[in-house]
Amino acid sequence: MANPDQAALVALAEQHLYPNYRQPPIVFVRGKGCEVWDKAGKRYLDLAAGVAVSALGHAHPRYVAAISEQVGRLVHMSNYFYNEPNILLAAELCKRTGMDRAFFCNSGTEANEALLKLARHHFYLSGQTDRYRIIAFDEAFHGRTLGALSMTGRAKYREGFGPYEGGVTHVPYGDLAAVKKAMGPDVAAIIVEPVQGEGGVVPAPPGFLASLRSLTDSHGALLLLDEVQTGVGRTGTFLACQQQGVVPDAIALAKGLGGGFPIGAMVCREKLSGALPPGSHGSTYAGNPLACTAALTVLAVLDEEHLVEGAKRKGEHLSKALSTLCSKYSDLVGPERGAGLLRAVPLKGGLEPRAILGPLRDRGLLLIVAGDAALRFCPPLVVTEAELDQGVRILDEVLASLRPEKGVTAEGARV
Ligand SMILES: Cc1ncc(COP(=O)(O)O)c(C=O)c1O
Repeated sequence: MANPDQAALVALAEQHLYPNYRQPPIVFVRGKGCEVWDKAGKRYLDLAAGVAVSALGHAHPRYVAAISEQVGRLVHMSNYFYNEPNILLAAELCKRTGMDRAFFCNSGTEANEALLKLARHHFYLSGQTDRYRIIAFDEAFHGRTLGALSMTGRAKYREGFGPYEGGVTHVPYGDLAAVKKAMGPDVAAIIVEPVQGEGGVVPAPPGFLASLRSLTDSHGALLLLDEVQTGVGRTGTFLACQQQGVVPDAIALAKGLGGGFPIGAMVCREKLSGALPPGSHGSTYAGNPLACTAALTVLAVLDEEHLVEGAKRKGEHLSKALSTLCSKYSDLVGPERGAGLLRAVPLKGGLEPRAILGPLRDRGLLLIVAGDAALRFCPPLVVTEAELDQGVRILDEVLASLRPEKGVTAEGARV
């Protein structure tokens, strides 16, 4: 089919793509900064960044040049050999996270799988073979392989895929008393997101991470942070846990790290460097020169364009604008919440996120859902305040159109 139009492509997708997603009938073909265009030529403002991934926006010139150059130089070698970008990226990540060692993989799920295997094998090799239990949190999202899913705390993702391997105890997020109750000599680690992203953009209560740190220290267990969504500058510091002064034992990173190119990383302290000896864990593609060049370029541009500080400043700007909006439509939405450039607007009164996302797209704005009933803003870190204002204005228009006096109630918008 020579140059099919958008409708023809959607028809082909409906016929051949595995239907485990629910895409709208739009096919994106190019992007620039925070703008993307579909096959029919319509422009959209992208404040979702491919789920907090496209940190540099689309087609950042520096990113395009670095990846293009690397494609012509060396794409893949496997981990039977060193490659230069891999070594340089490990050093950069250790510097920025305060950790000592970096293991690379291809996604957030795999980074969490590595955390799980790291924790269990650490105690196994030290002779504490009964120490394997992990404490995780209700509503947590750590990924979709069976290991990561065993730590994920949302029934919606878990149901029907069991039985799980066991050994994971879920407790309510932010409930220190429940964590203490679940703690025991068989606990290898606690895994936690500083802000539950897929769970609805819910920040941990102040002091919670520090309390988990003290608790794991006093029990000889490990503290594992899933910073897949919050890391790489999104919340206004390189890691979200740095705002709480908490140093974990190991961290999962992905999403923003590759700026769109698939890469994940597990970084850990030196004391864990013997936990996964040669042959115990690995991946064919992981840490290849192309993926690592993409990540190195993201880190360089974060510095050059002061994007981490920018995420804090622009996050505050967005937070203010969304708070004003939530006051204006307090019957439909609010209160807004989040950290830096990861924010959510909860919907009230049974209003379904999908009833809002469609009208937003019609007006040229891309947002995504967080949890069951919230809209998520996780724009490229290169976003401008003007673009954020434009997005909030479009959401304002859509909320205005849902007002009861316009003839559509929150209930009515469900259908
Ligand atoms: C906190 C967190 N962990 C893990 C994952 C899984 O990452 P991936 O989809 O790259 O496997 C996600 C994805 O949304 C996430 O938000």
